[in-house]
Parts: sequence; structure tokens; C-alpha cells
Amino acid sequence: MTVRRVRADEWPALRGLRLDALRDPDARLAFLDSFADAVQRPDEHWRGRAAASAEGDAAVQLVAVDDHELAGSVTVLVQVAGSQDHHGRRVRHSRAVLVGVYVRPAYRGTGVTDDLIDAAATWSRARGFRELTLDVHRDNARAQGAYRRAGFTPSGVAFTSAIGPEIEMVRAL
Ligand SMILES: CC(C)(COP(=O)(O)OP(=O)(O)OC[C@H]1O[C@@H](n2cnc3c(N)ncnc32)[C@H](O)[C@@H]1OP(=O)(O)O)[C@@H](O)C(=O)NCCC(=O)NCCS
Repeated sequence: MTVRRVRADEWPALRGLRLDALRDPDARLAFLDSFADAVQRPDEHWRGRAAASAEGDAAVQLVAVDDHELAGSVTVLVQVAGSQDHHGRRVRHSRAVLVGVYVRPAYRGTGVTDDLIDAAATWSRARGFRELTLDVHRDNARAQGAYRRAGFTPSGVAFTSAIGPEIEMVRAL
């Protein structure tokens, strides 16, 4: 298993992984997007999405690759103070935010999630961030378990997003 930054030319595989994520039984507790919307997006959308996370400092998508299959993925978004975050909230301090956490069922409980989160932490630390933040649905117990094991603790911030009640968790880098 290799964990690395995605390449722009991998957009078809990223599209497949994302569509599988949006079909997951827990998708309604995990993602702001829906399968019905995503499946209709043109190739240009997926090309652009892959390119934006393959290069630069604004975002990174890290993938776990097993024998040419994408086992899972995480994305770090750099949110700049004064901008709006992915929930439409104003960002007070520039921060690194972990989103789009998904591991295919066959690879769950194998440590892939930890490797992806560690890679996200390393990338964020190298860009000067001292914390990694994420939001997780209040009822997504498995994700919260994985995040706690990876060193995240609740920050005390709770809010309601498009998918319902969420809590913020933070890990020092
Ligand atoms: C979230 C996800 C990436 C976690 O990866 P994973 O490999 O399944 O996680 P792990 O098995 O390594 O860790 C889960 C932890 O929660 C625990 N757990 C599992 N189910 C649980 C439940 N119903 N209640 C409480 N804890 C639970 C596990 O025991 C484990 O903790 P432990 O290692 O301390 O025993 C993966 O399940 C996934 O892709 N889920 C669908 C998408 C999703 O929910 N993404 C997160 C969006 S915020």
C-alpha cells in the first residue's frame, strides 16, 4: 500500500472512488454531496478537481493505492482567514481542514485510514500549520473512533450543517 498525492491524470479513478463513497450506506452521515448530483457532472469537473488537488498549496488529495486500485482518500483544504468554508461559514484564522475521508469497505480496519491521516498531517505541518481540523456527523461513530485513535479530540464546537448535527475535532501537528 502506497499513500501519495494524487496525479491529475488519475481523474477517472478519483471519479470512481468518489461515486462509490457517495453510494456508501454511511454517505448521508459523511458527505455534503450526493450520488445523484455527482454522477451527472461532466468529465471537465473531475479533471479540474483532480488537477486542483494534485498541485499547489490550496488543497491536496492523498490517495492510498493498492496494486493500482484506489483503496481510499483524504483531502486537505487550506482555508484562508476571511474566506468562506465548505459550510458557508466565515473562516476566522487560516487553517488546514481534513475533508472527503473515505476508505473502501475491503480496506477498513487495516490501518489505511491512519496512513492517510498521517500523510494529511505531514502535508499540513510542512505548510506551517500547527493544527488539523475536521467536522464529523454526531452519529458517525466509526469515523469518530478512527479520528480519536489518530489523535483528534472534540474542540467543543458543534453546529448543524446540510447533513445534520456535526462536531469539530482537532489534532495538534
Ligand atoms: C470513516 C472511515 C474512513 C474510517 O476508516 P476505518 O478503517 O473504517 O476505521 P477504523 O476501523 O480504522 O477505526 C474505526 C474505529 O471506530 C471503532 N468503531 C467502529 N464502529 C464503531 C461504532 N459503531 N461505534 C463506535 N466505535 C466504532 C473501531 O473499533 C475503531 O476504533 P479502534 O481502532 O480504537 O478499535 C471509513 O469507515 C469510511 O470510509 N466510512 C464511510 C465514509 C465516512 O464516514 N467518512 C468520514 C466522514 S467525516
